[in-house]
Amino acid sequence: MAESMKGLQRTCRCTELDESSIGKTVTMMGWVQKSRNKGGLVFTDLRDRSGILQIVFEECDCGAEVFEKAGRLRSEFVIAVTGVVRSRGKDQNKDLKTGAIEISARALRILSESEVPPFPIEDGIKTKEEVRLRYRYLDLRRPELARKIMTRAQIAFKVRSFLQEEGFLEIETPTLIKSTPEGARDFLVPSRLHHGSFYALPQSPQLLKQLLMVSGMDRYFQLARCYRDEDLRADRQPEFTQIDMELSFVDVDDVIEVNERLLQYLFREICNVEIPLPIPRMRWIDAMETYGSDKPDMRFGMPLQDVTDVVKDCGFSVFRDCAAEGGWVKGICVKGQAHMPRKKIDAYAEMAKEAGAKGLAWLSLQEDGSRKSSFAKFLSEDELKALEGAMGCVPGDLLLFVSDKKRETVWNVLGTLRLALGRDLSLIDEKAWKFLWVTEFPMFEWSDELGRYQAMHHPFTMPMEEDLPMLDTDQGSVRAKAYDIVLNGTELGGGSVRIHQADVQEKMLEKLGFTPEMADQQFGFLMQAFHYGVPPHAGLAYGLDRLAMWMVGSDTIRDVIAFPKIKDGSDPMMDAPAPVFDQQQLEDLGIRLAKENQ
Ligand code: AMO
Ligand code: AMP
Repeated sequence: MAESMKGLQRTCRCTELDESSIGKTVTMMGWVQKSRNKGGLVFTDLRDRSGILQIVFEECDCGAEVFEKAGRLRSEFVIAVTGVVRSRGKDQNKDLKTGAIEISARALRILSESEVPPFPIEDGIKTKEEVRLRYRYLDLRRPELARKIMTRAQIAFKVRSFLQEEGFLEIETPTLIKSTPEGARDFLVPSRLHHGSFYALPQSPQLLKQLLMVSGMDRYFQLARCYRDEDLRADRQPEFTQIDMELSFVDVDDVIEVNERLLQYLFREICNVEIPLPIPRMRWIDAMETYGSDKPDMRFGMPLQDVTDVVKDCGFSVFRDCAAEGGWVKGICVKGQAHMPRKKIDAYAEMAKEAGAKGLAWLSLQEDGSRKSSFAKFLSEDELKALEGAMGCVPGDLLLFVSDKKRETVWNVLGTLRLALGRDLSLIDEKAWKFLWVTEFPMFEWSDELGRYQAMHHPFTMPMEEDLPMLDTDQGSVRAKAYDIVLNGTELGGGSVRIHQADVQEKMLEKLGFTPEMADQQFGFLMQAFHYGVPPHAGLAYGLDRLAMWMVGSDTIRDVIAFPKIKDGSDPMMDAPAPVFDQQQLEDLGIRLAKENQ
């Protein structure tokens, strides 16, 4: 029978007691981590979100009735204990924050009993994540996860306090809106009052925050829930949270400046890490050419090097022909790996093919000056020397090359190999915090699927002023005033200066293939606003989940989300999404399911 807590008040959390509390009478409440009867003594570990505290029941102190009740305690029972704090003397537990003290119990109430949980409530368990997520409320009791959720709360608090100090207003925007084009698929919500019409859940508050600038709000921020119907990865969820901000009367440097101070403040306060400012910046084209990625992991080297010129006349037809067709040959030098077994090289070649390469050419220069290679036999000694020289290859090194007509393929393949090698060869300094701004993104990227250009960031991004004339002549080369903040190879956030001139915005939409009618239908409200005095403005949004993931040291954002979705987009605890049980609900919405879904 569960007892009531009537008349009792919790004194504090477990780890808020310390040696200065010795002698005090306290009432503690929480869960039983474990309880063991050592003949005449019952030792109970009491747990709450702060940690663990030892309770001791001794019949001579607490009386026979309480002692008998203590004997019935099982893991995950919820209890209230009143007792006296005392020193553990020499018998201290160094592993516990409260290891110097214990509670000598006088009274006990069992507030709630528990069945045996489906997995142990402790750190480092091997239970499958799906099971943990089905019982997420139990999972969240585990100290490592509880700590992560608590740290996330701290981050949100610090973000608010910093931005408020800087003059940002926290303003909520609706989540039942019209589609915003961030490039993913929308989640749609059917309207009961307008059959056949749908709200979209926002992929971000992009247009609304721009309209707040038009309203004169000047500096806005929000911890905004965003929804994107895309395939999930370790750092992607269908609903996630952005630290979203927008500022008026600013340019790129102003946004970067305030955000560098925000990041420095957060990492100092939460992680006790000092980020040196300014954070380095790299143009997008340099990031791609040097690291094969727009979010380079700067914790290790192994840059991509261009050897197209070096091999354009060489004896290896794959390289020569590729160069002749205007293609690209690039390589990476893997230091000290000349001894890599053939099997392993073949595995990387396979990886290269999966990433889109036609092949992977390799050459290892042995310590004795001899070579092993998939293509060296086609090159003269001079050509080999020139190639090795260009790559900075010394005896003991391994060279990997990819050639392709498309530079994107070369970047992508070598970028993938570089990351894999960095991981496999333990080249990554796990303790490093390598921040990087990536700037000057291309405004457009070509979509084979659509057969036209689409916006790389979004259609409201301002092109670089000097590139504006190229909108008509060389669209693919126009650069945007867009920037991403990258941490250790993850895109933490991104943003841009926005177009604030109606004519430029109209032109941009036209360049993205919108007819005036389509533009009016989708963004008419924005275009209208642009006729009433728009301040120049810019902004940025972080993925709060990704930021928190790094700050707590996890490798998945699920760890910092209380109730995350699994890979197939479902919630195993609530069992969502689920069919609608009451047909009337669908009828009210004017929805009839296709036969196969009924
Ligand atoms: P963007 O689309 O780059 O920009 O998103 C900003 C940041 O949000 C995070 N993010 C995600 N996190 C978890 N799961 C996802 N599915 C997911 N998708 C994105 C990333 C990303 O860097 N409106 C613009 C911002 C702006 O221009 O101000 C926007 O949404 O960390
Ligand atoms: P082959 O002449 O077919 O024996 O190829 C010699 C080497 O060139 C093999 O290691 C291939 O994997 C490699 N190779 C083929 N195509 C490419 C390419 N596009 N880029 C780099 N290496 C390639």
